[in-house]
Amino acid sequence: MGIKILGTGRALPQRIIDNNELGQSVDTSDEWIRSRTGIGQRYKCEGEENEKTLAIAAAKEIILDACKREFINKNEIGVVVVATSTAEHAFPSTACMVCSALDLDSEVIAFDITAACSGFLYGLEIVRSLLENSKKKYGLLIGSEHLTKILDKNDRTTCVLFGDGAAGVLIKNDESIYVHKAWAKGDLDSLYCNGIGKEETYLHMDGKAVFKNAVKAFEQAITEVIAESEIKLTDVDLFVTHQANERIIDYVRKKHPEVAEKFYVNIERYANTSAASIPIALDELNKAGRLNSGSKILCVAFGAGFTWSGCLFAM
Ligand code: UT7
Repeated sequence: MGIKILGTGRALPQRIIDNNELGQSVDTSDEWIRSRTGIGQRYKCEGEENEKTLAIAAAKEIILDACKREFINKNEIGVVVVATSTAEHAFPSTACMVCSALDLDSEVIAFDITAACSGFLYGLEIVRSLLENSKKKYGLLIGSEHLTKILDKNDRTTCVLFGDGAAGVLIKNDESIYVHKAWAKGDLDSLYCNGIGKEETYLHMDGKAVFKNAVKAFEQAITEVIAESEIKLTDVDLFVTHQANERIIDYVRKKHPEVAEKFYVNIERYANTSAASIPIALDELNKAGRLNSGSKILCVAFGAGFTWSGCLFAM
């Protein structure tokens, strides 16, 4: 059993910080950031904004959007998962906060997952499989991140790369094409951030090591998902990858020139929003009318852990 996406939505903080503004506080430049990463600006939570407020705002937009496709009784939502590495609270989960804000029926499984930048694709398989055994029809999956709070604003090698945001999908089970694969490997040093109770809780990354592993992982995910499906690579209508660095996406494009035009890139506007990056892209595509019924979408993600994943589904 596969999935059908019924609605998408996103929520971004008010504040936008462009590369030139960052250049006023660290030794960097718009030229360096754009040429090395493709990033032009990022959103940053301020004041009361955090991963919870963004997740709730995105959830409301997702449900409104889904209502354009079919009548949604929100008490038919049986699963709520939030993928995040930056929750304000250790508990209760952000997912429970979403349930409360939406005033959902309490017969719902709601929890957060942490799989770093692969969180949304891990979450897709979790929600899909939980729905198979649910009496209820719909699953809500949101990727929400407040990454700017874990960045060392004096470390130019990381503070320019990440941004805040949330987005997600409402799904139901469906017979259409679906192939999901996920991997995890215990790399504990290349990309990490200490948790509650530690003195220092900044994100640390060995950019080169992560880059090298990311390109390999994207390639593996694309190749193995297509091999397990009954379609050819050229049958895929859109490739939506995690947006960490445009050069990673270009590397994969160059390996597959026959589909290079089908890769969606929006890193210029958001930087790396971790678990939110794929659903933000899906929402942009949806709102631009590019997710036509029957379109085959192949998503791939890679993140800390390392974790990586690929998922092929049809709209
Ligand atoms: O979402 C999780 C997955 N994350 C990723 O996939 C990120 C993967 N890694 C990357 O995207 C890239 O490795 C980076 C964008 C992080 C770095 O790009 P790079 O081409 O590997 O640069 P580098 O680390 O080799 O640095 C080159 C130079 C260094 O200076 P020297 O040693 O050559 O004098 C850095 O100190 O660029 C310097 N540098 C900067 N200069 C200006 C590093 N950051 C900056 C900066 N502005 N922000």
